[in-house]
Amino acid sequence: MSLWKRIRPVALAIAGGVFLAPAASADDFDLAAAREVYLHECFKCHGKIEADVALSRENLLQPAVALPYGPTLLGVYGRPAGTIEDFKYSRAFEEKAPEIVWTGEMLDKWLAGTQDVIQGTVMFYKQKNADIRATVIAYLKATTEMAKNK
Ligand code: HEC
Repeated sequence: MSLWKRIRPVALAIAGGVFLAPAASADDFDLAAAREVYLHECFKCHGKIEADVALSRENLLQPAVALPYGPTLLGVYGRPAGTIEDFKYSRAFEEKAPEIVWTGEMLDKWLAGTQDVIQGTVMFYKQKNADIRATVIAYLKATTEMAKNK
């Protein structure tokens, strides 16, 4: 079974805010499966989310590049945009960042088409599949909470 078929029901439940089976609860969120989606979609530029290391000792992927091309996404959920101090954002991003806080809604817009949110950003990404967007966002939220509770 493809990865997507496996996690789709979970993503739909998160996206819709409702759970399909009566016995299901938020605990049914499959962090490991969501992490795989993150690794597939974001990892090559953003690197591994550090809190993730605590989730699993297995090394799921070798870094595709020596240094991440994008800023770390650890703790990104709910924080203002453009605040990773040692990362050099593009000029277009820096100009617009003060207007942006990475809420779930904003992240969804961003992933649906980065250029529509910040014209000229050097992150080129457009994910038409709302389930994939919801799964990645749920993963960012979960890892942010873990990092805060550490
Ligand atoms: C091709 C490389 C690439 C991919 C793939 C990529 N990003 Fe990015 N991302 C970047 C770069 C580069 C920036 C900085 C943008 C700028 O400076 O214009 C960025 C910025 C961001 C920011 C803003 C962070 C901040 O500090 O304000 C978020 C949020 C983000 N990316 C989320 C994601 C997510 C989630 C995924 C996977 C679904 C993803 N990105 C996939 C390269 C990428």
